[in-house]
Amino acid sequence: MSLTIVVLAAGQGVRMNSDLPKVMHALAGRPMVRFATDAARALEPENLIVVVGYRADLVRSAAGEGITFVTQEEQLGTGHAVQQAQIAAGKADTVLVLYGDTPLIRPETLRQVVGHHEEVGAAVTVLTSRPADPTGYGRILRAAHTDTVLAIVEERDATPQQKAIDEVSSGIFCFRDEWLWPNLEDIEKSPAGEYYLTDLVAIARAQGETVTAWTVADPLEVIGLDQRIKLAQGEAEMRRRINLGWMAAGVTLIHPETTYIDAGVVIGSDTTIWPNTYLQGQTRIGQGCTIGPSSVIRDSDVGNRCRVELSVVEQATMEEDSDVGPFGHLRSGAYLAKGAHMGNFGEIKNATLGPGAKMGHFGYMGDATVEAGANIGAGTITCNYDGKRKHRTTIGAQAFIGSGTMLVAPVEIGEGATTGAGSVVTRDVPAGSVAYGVPAKVRPTADEEEPEVKDRDHG
Ligand code: UD1
Ligand code: MG
Repeated sequence: MSLTIVVLAAGQGVRMNSDLPKVMHALAGRPMVRFATDAARALEPENLIVVVGYRADLVRSAAGEGITFVTQEEQLGTGHAVQQAQIAAGKADTVLVLYGDTPLIRPETLRQVVGHHEEVGAAVTVLTSRPADPTGYGRILRAAHTDTVLAIVEERDATPQQKAIDEVSSGIFCFRDEWLWPNLEDIEKSPAGEYYLTDLVAIARAQGETVTAWTVADPLEVIGLDQRIKLAQGEAEMRRRINLGWMAAGVTLIHPETTYIDAGVVIGSDTTIWPNTYLQGQTRIGQGCTIGPSSVIRDSDVGNRCRVELSVVEQATMEEDSDVGPFGHLRSGAYLAKGAHMGNFGEIKNATLGPGAKMGHFGYMGDATVEAGANIGAGTITCNYDGKRKHRTTIGAQAFIGSGTMLVAPVEIGEGATTGAGSVVTRDVPAGSVAYGVPAKVRPTADEEEPEVKDRDHG
């Protein structure tokens, strides 16, 4: 049977008290509308439509691929929102409606509801739940003896007795396509001036059509994240699911409750993650790594067998067997080649540490290339910024940079060269030579008075 899915995401969400549309608030680093559209996409519908309105461009950019967007100019309610999708929807057997503020829904559940709806041949099927607190949701009215679903009554229109009903509407519906579209026009404006999609239940019943309900076992799947308190509940549930998924895939989480893994992150097996660690954005961690405690890795690529301890790694790459920390900061464009080491209190920005290069204690490498096996002494700093422009530093393979060296860029230290402790290097240092002092001079070798050095313009 052919399926159209309509995701409603046009509302502002006033109870969020926010400039952002409600559906753009994130769970595990991803806008909630994206979870709804991903769940929809998993069913491989013939047609996936998202209804946008408030700050439509933002929502469009977050919803993902393969979507037809329709605009609801004025947010006149969920019934009106679905109506906007009619032309784009074309013809199908079944129309499944989801809400963009219900991102915890699982594709398996959607499949079950659609399957049940099609099997029964109902005009309308509503997905219901029994949450601990039904406040705020539409209540399901059933006939006293037969259990037949009669109507849905919104919280604001419910009598005290109706409010005591603990079965609520998730907002997720299946409709028989040919029944839905003409009947949407029969929804009457509510006293609050909205066209409620939920009214279709009573309309179908009045026509003697079959209306069924499918009750989801886990009410958390269908909580509507309308306010920040619910958003936090949704966040906790989404993170719990993500963590369970990674543990099942072979990742050790020492303390899952304080391990925060975003939805887009990928982790290899036999990696161990210590508490208070945040893996964010588009981050990939290899196998056999030890990450944390108390680390943040954002939009970075970390190879196999790496270690990151008490450190922040952002937009950086660590090749296999490299390590950072404790108390390191890899900033944008930092690149640690295989086996490179950055120890205590280091910072690297837009710079590469070559294979096996070491920077054990304190120090800053900015706009620099450190070649294989070089050793950067404690407190070494690239003076990469002259107040106007950034300049590059190159340190050759196997060079030995003495503690507290200031490398005034642009400057090049040759392969195997040495700088003395505390030297301020303003000129290039030839390969294999030794430079020392302030500003650093290259020490003459036995067969030469003063080695030739290339002057650098530091203006
Ligand atoms: C809705 C249901 C309620 C159900 C609850 C489940 C109605 C009338 N009520 O209430 O029965 O228990 O969801 O979470 O349907 N939207 C639009 N255009 C509009 C209005 C809303 O696109 O004109 C979108 C919103 O962006 C949102 C979704 O539809 O994603 C649901 O709207 P919302 O205002 O959250 O409805 P609820 O009050 O939660
Ligand atoms: Mg809602």
